[in-house]
Amino acid sequence: MAIRKIGVVGCGLMGGGIAQTCAQSGYEVVVREVNQELLDKGLARIYSAWDMMATKGKLTKGQVDENRSRLHGTLNLEDYADCDLVIEAVIENMEEKLRLFPALDRIVNPEALLLTNTSSLNVTQMGAVTKRPHKVCGLHFFNPAPVMKLVEVVQTISSSEDTIEVVKQFAISLGKTPVLAKDTAGFIVNFLLIPYLIAAIRLLENGQASRDDIDNAMKLGCGYPMGPFTLLDYVGLDTTLWAAEAIYEEYKDPLYAPPPLLRRMVQSGIYGKKSGRGFYDYQ
Ligand code: 3HC
Repeated sequence: MAIRKIGVVGCGLMGGGIAQTCAQSGYEVVVREVNQELLDKGLARIYSAWDMMATKGKLTKGQVDENRSRLHGTLNLEDYADCDLVIEAVIENMEEKLRLFPALDRIVNPEALLLTNTSSLNVTQMGAVTKRPHKVCGLHFFNPAPVMKLVEVVQTISSSEDTIEVVKQFAISLGKTPVLAKDTAGFIVNFLLIPYLIAAIRLLENGQASRDDIDNAMKLGCGYPMGPFTLLDYVGLDTTLWAAEAIYEEYKDPLYAPPPLLRRMVQSGIYGKKSGRGFYDYQ
């Protein structure tokens, strides 16, 4: 099937990055937020990324205008009706997703694919609340979505081979490299990344090393672009906590048990870069 028009649900850090990526790859994009303030904020972030790319000579002024004309903000789910593929990127809350998927299923063209950007929640369950579970799968982007080359294509028990093939080709058309993962909590990347991030917090909690030394150790010792605390703040402490909880819930493996410090920081509204404070201060 031909994919021309994309719906992105949510214009936060990930949804906005996904909408930006799709629009700059030539797709018509409808992106929806729950209120005008969040929509304006999300669109402004995308526009400023394009302006920054133009300043660096990566986009011409004409290309920025074309990208903008392909990107449509909305507050109405009904505007997804004629989309060929919809990517859900709302908050990592299963109840929210289980409300959204039947609504999308009712509204969106029955031939369209319904995808989720969830980082670790159960994709099979999201498909099961629709009448088209064979057309549901995961497409997990990495932050910052316009820059990171990887996407995980997540196949549920019910996703058809056709769906997976179309989604892989779609990912390639966005300039991404798709890897295929079965629908188990954490897929590939978070299954490996979350224990690493949790171990860094435990080192700090136990007073074994300082934040800066741990970050420097992994940057300079392993060549990682960011140390674990910079990455935690970048990804979001709330997102990391939700991912750890989801994987712990699935396997009950203590490797994934959220450390007390992480939980308490999130309970205090300390979410990382996006809230102005995380392991570092961004005020
Ligand atoms: N749109 C377009 N381009 C963008 C952009 C955006 N939104 N954000 C950054 N860029 C571009 C910059 O313009 C820059 O381009 P240039 O090289 O041509 O100048 C390039 O990306 C690199 O950005 P910066 O120069 O600002 O900074 P760095 O060189 O330090 O790179 C980084 C930033 C790419 C974020 C790098 O530090 C990195 O790779 N960090 C690790 C990120 C990571 O691991 N992400 C995955 C997290 S896990 C996850 O998301 C899963 C979730 O489920 C938890």
